[in-house]
Amino acid sequence: MQGIFKTMKRLIEDLQWRYAVKKYDTNKKIPAEIIEHFKDVLRLVPTSNGLQPYKFLIIETPEIRQELRKHSFNQPQITDASHLFVFCSYKTLNETHYDDYIYLNSVIRETPMEQLSTYAFHLKASLMNRTEDQILNSNEKQCYIALGQLLQTAAIHRVDASPMEGFIASKYDEVLGLPAKNLTATVVCALGYRSEEDIFQHWKKVRKNKEDLFEII
Ligand SMILES: Cc1cc2nc3c(=O)[nH]c(=O)nc-3n(C[C@H](O)[C@H](O)[C@H](O)COP(=O)(O)O)c2cc1C
Repeated sequence: MQGIFKTMKRLIEDLQWRYAVKKYDTNKKIPAEIIEHFKDVLRLVPTSNGLQPYKFLIIETPEIRQELRKHSFNQPQITDASHLFVFCSYKTLNETHYDDYIYLNSVIRETPMEQLSTYAFHLKASLMNRTEDQILNSNEKQCYIALGQLLQTAAIHRVDASPMEGFIASKYDEVLGLPAKNLTATVVCALGYRSEEDIFQHWKKVRKNKEDLFEII
């Protein structure tokens, strides 16, 4: 039992420690094995019907990051953090997406495709009549679930992170060639190590108290 209390306390400490970093130490890089762990976590994030309707771009090329910064209201995190993750949503989901997912089920769970045909039928029947707006809206929500998990994992590793919506998605799409991939940029996360000069690390967290945040009915 003592172990559980320690874990609970530790998680709250991790979440208190994290904040949305504004100024990164440009000399510090996240070790490759931690990035690999982030990828493992993102791979396991749950999504609606398991469709994983997104792609995570890890932007390494400095010139591209410089270009993206121009479309992010010149926020320095875009170029100065160790890593930049762009969470991209599929704009539409055509029949192939569903078929690929069923096929993956068949391979991973070692189930013949024929046995999955009723499941495939119902999956498509319930999801394929959505409008493009509904699909994109749902896909973007899935990105935010992934973002949340990444932020928490980063904090556990004591890696700093900046979730960011302050960018022009259409410009990101253009720079990253996303339309050709049926993708659009949804949200961004810069990751790295805070600069000692970032004054925001000393600011107290502003959060509603639990009485205002929760209601038991
Ligand atoms: C989805 C999302 C988008 C955000 N976009 C930006 C952004 O573009 N620029 C920025 O400086 N902070 C951004 N933030 C940081 C928030 O302002 C910050 O998380 C919030 O004020 C709470 O502070 P804390 O994260 O430091 O605890 C964003 C946060 C989230 C969750």
